[in-house]
Amino acid sequence: MDDAISGRIKALQEKYAASGQELLDFLDGLLEADYLTYWDYIRLDSLLSLQQPRTSHHDEPIFIMYHQITELYFKLVLHELEPMVAAELTDQEALTEAIRRANRYFGALEHSFGVMVDGMDREQFLRFRMALIPASGFQSGQYRMIELASAKLNDLVHLEKREILASETSTDTLLENIYWLRGATLEKDGQKTLTLQQFELKYGEEFSKRARKAQGRSISERAAVLHASGSLHEDLVKELRAFDQYVNVLWPLQHYRSAVRYLAKQPADARATGGTNWQKYLPPRFQKRIFFPFLWSPEEQAEWGKSFADRYSQGV
Ligand code: HEM
Repeated sequence: MDDAISGRIKALQEKYAASGQELLDFLDGLLEADYLTYWDYIRLDSLLSLQQPRTSHHDEPIFIMYHQITELYFKLVLHELEPMVAAELTDQEALTEAIRRANRYFGALEHSFGVMVDGMDREQFLRFRMALIPASGFQSGQYRMIELASAKLNDLVHLEKREILASETSTDTLLENIYWLRGATLEKDGQKTLTLQQFELKYGEEFSKRARKAQGRSISERAAVLHASGSLHEDLVKELRAFDQYVNVLWPLQHYRSAVRYLAKQPADARATGGTNWQKYLPPRFQKRIFFPFLWSPEEQAEWGKSFADRYSQGV
């Protein structure tokens, strides 16, 4: 027998013996096993069966698939952020690489948002969306999980309360004042919208668990410690600033453009499926969510979202 093969058999024998297993049984298994195929490996049939439109409008599957694509990218971002929150962070190179990857994913989302902004027929959209009420992208749990892993919880408090709660340490109090509640509370009586009630029922506990886990360990708090001691690497600063821009300015602006394209004017601004006053809620310059405030000057923070809003203003 070929030396290479007998070497591998010996190595396999040792591997299985170490856990009290018989190599022969595993070799029999190999003889029986089918070849792996591409479609089985990536679960293609399941993936392609996950589009279930609620109407027969041609453009509704575009809306569904682009949301699914986005959720997969969000999952990729979390795949990079979560180990960083869990780890005892000493390795700035690993964090830099993780954020660089997350930026690549958000870059792909920013550049592909035209699929939504320009890629659907407005009349069809306005009709099929009526079959989706009260569901809304607002209910994307992964979007909030990205924020919980990235930011110090105090920086996710609604702008009006952010300063007052700057040194608050109670996770419950901070979560009670989290910015997104403002986006889903009825203006007339302060009641939570049904969209929000369902969202909290599904994710409330999970968010609270994640917020507690990330407190003191979020990407922002880790980076702040390094920044304060003057040891935050330049490459990491660059990636963190880009990440802040992608998540808190560029993606939200592209998203806002799609709301403007489909919901604005004619004859009055259409109500959002989640029932928000979206014109006042969605623009980044009003929300001023900033993950890494210590990396931006007071002037940059005051101007948050404005220069990019100009860049996109023709489209809007
Ligand atoms: C034509 C396309 C879209 C329109 C018109 C649109 C519209 C809206 C509106 C009006 C809101 C405010 C909440 C509400 O009342 O519903 C919202 C929130 C949101 N949507 Fe979309 N959306 C679109 C596509 C998407 C896509 C593709 C995603 C990807 C997951 C998404 C994710 C979100 C998220 C995460 C929020 C919450 C934003 C925040 O709290 O700041 N949306 N959307």
